[in-house]
Amino acid sequence: MVRQSVDFQDFVDEVLGKTDIVDLISRYVTLKRVGNRFQALCPLHNDKKTPSFSVSPDKQLFHCFGCGAGGTAIHFIMQKENLDFMEAVKLLAERAGIPIPDYRSSSERAKAAEIHNKKKRMYEMNAEAARFFFANLTSKSGEGALGYLKRRGLSNSTIKSFGLGYAPDSWTALIDFMKTKGYAETELLEAGLAVKRDNDTYFDKFRDRVMFPILDLRGNVIAFGGRIMTDKDNAPKYLNSPETLVFKKKDNLFAMNIAKNSKAGQFLVMEGYMDVISLHQNGFDNAVASLGTAFTPQQAEILKRYADKAVLCYDADEAGQKAADRAGGIMREANIKCRVLTITDGKDPDEYINAKGKEMFELLVDNAESFIEYKIGKIEKQYNLEDTVEKIEFIEQIAKILANIKNDVEREVYIKKTARKTDISPASITAQVENLMRKNQKGEQLKAQRDEKRAFEARTGGRQDLDRMRLYNAEKLMLNLICEPEIFKTVSDKLKPEEFTEGIHRRLAEIIYRTHQNGEKIRPMQIISEFDEADTGTVSEILSDDKNVENKAEAAKMPLKIIKEFYLKQAAMTEQTDAAKLQEIMDKLKKDKKQKGEK
Ligand code: CTP
Ligand code: MN
Repeated sequence: MVRQSVDFQDFVDEVLGKTDIVDLISRYVTLKRVGNRFQALCPLHNDKKTPSFSVSPDKQLFHCFGCGAGGTAIHFIMQKENLDFMEAVKLLAERAGIPIPDYRSSSERAKAAEIHNKKKRMYEMNAEAARFFFANLTSKSGEGALGYLKRRGLSNSTIKSFGLGYAPDSWTALIDFMKTKGYAETELLEAGLAVKRDNDTYFDKFRDRVMFPILDLRGNVIAFGGRIMTDKDNAPKYLNSPETLVFKKKDNLFAMNIAKNSKAGQFLVMEGYMDVISLHQNGFDNAVASLGTAFTPQQAEILKRYADKAVLCYDADEAGQKAADRAGGIMREANIKCRVLTITDGKDPDEYINAKGKEMFELLVDNAESFIEYKIGKIEKQYNLEDTVEKIEFIEQIAKILANIKNDVEREVYIKKTARKTDISPASITAQVENLMRKNQKGEQLKAQRDEKRAFEARTGGRQDLDRMRLYNAEKLMLNLICEPEIFKTVSDKLKPEEFTEGIHRRLAEIIYRTHQNGEKIRPMQIISEFDEADTGTVSEILSDDKNVENKAEAAKMPLKIIKEFYLKQAAMTEQTDAAKLQEIMDKLKKDKKQKGEK
């Protein structure tokens, strides 16, 4: 076991050795050199205007003062890609072309294999169910369903390529069929295909519904949506699979398995299964749907792997417009160029294309306005620009939107447009927008400061006084400086590790002292690995942040003085209290004596 862990550390070291943290992080965010480090807007939190993120090429560490994250390239990938330690190491190893050894213990391996098998069986189970539903369409029981799909304009080849089907009007048709294929009711329950009653009997989840299989990117059937054929008040129009081992709603998009191969260069993002299927039938192979939930950042990331443009084709009703607002915001965050298509006559894309044809829809797509224009347009409807007071209010509202555009050119384009629209000079609109941007920035700076203060208080147990802060910072700088062997030599006989007052500082000091005393080189990555996940931010901040000091030997004097002073003060205080106590006792004795004497 020990041998294995040594090997593992070597592997991690090799991976880190072949990964340049600056190169890695530059793939996510633009880094700017400032002295001996790089700065950026933090890619790990919503860092809009204050570059609180810092990368040290010498130490190969990063740290963010805003969100407190920090560590090695591995920690960065863990947080950015939402991976665990092992997964992050693997990803970096692959990137560096290093073969990955299997370090898992036999029980871990067994557990992973079990999950893998379970998933595989669930895919097979879902595929089997999809085949069953599809076969029903062409059987007697499915006549009604087939008729329904035909009435809605779907061709045989569309029905086939989307694998649509019919779940019969029965409590156990699927369960009975799946049993003949060797699946247990408990497995069907786990796959979301059956429901358990209180008396431990099971029934089919989908009954008398048209079935829409949901496939993942690799084409595995992972879930179903089932549509009722005659709208009823007491039953939902669509019934969907619950979240299962293989189905996480927020991570999937309907029809993405097809749309990812589209040559269109952009995606059409819509709300419904039927919208997507209709559009595909009409030759729009780039249509996808967000599975009946709000569009998620995860879905944006998936789209972005294939194209950086999207057109939102949400329903014209209020709910649809709200959803488009949110989805557009998420897309802009993900740097997807986003446009919004509005269908004016209260129809959804499916109804529209059936009524007006594909050329008309194509026209709508081509003329879709940018997300910003769309938002401006919505505000414009609320104001009468002929009225001076309303015009001023209108510009105030628009300025709020424009102040959030990060790209200077894009912002200017909209400022000019607004200027033309309102007949106000671009310069005054720019002034208003920039004023807001400054305010936002100030707000964010204040927020960052507050966050840092709060983080500091959390770390120091709420002790706020300045002396304490000074001591805390002195310890941090000292720990950074004594990583250098020469500085360590001058400090180590004056300051002991146990004199660091903060628990985490003390532990770090002990490790640094031990490493030097063993004649070993300080390796920040190895040191970080000795701390808990929760402390990596603090530790990497300390190890990587030398506060840009020029002369380290000189710089070490101040923190040493501050730490020593703290102990001197403490001693003085104890003496004082001792002296005060003594006085008190004397006084009391005197008083007692006096009282006695009086008697
Ligand atoms: N949806 C759902 N559950 C519901 C209603 C809707 O999961 N009870 C999801 C489905 O993914 C549906 C999408 O939200 O496709 C959009 O809903 P809606 O616009 O109501 O349905 P359409 O897709 O237009 O379906 P249809 O045309 O068949 O009415
Ligand atoms: Mn519809």
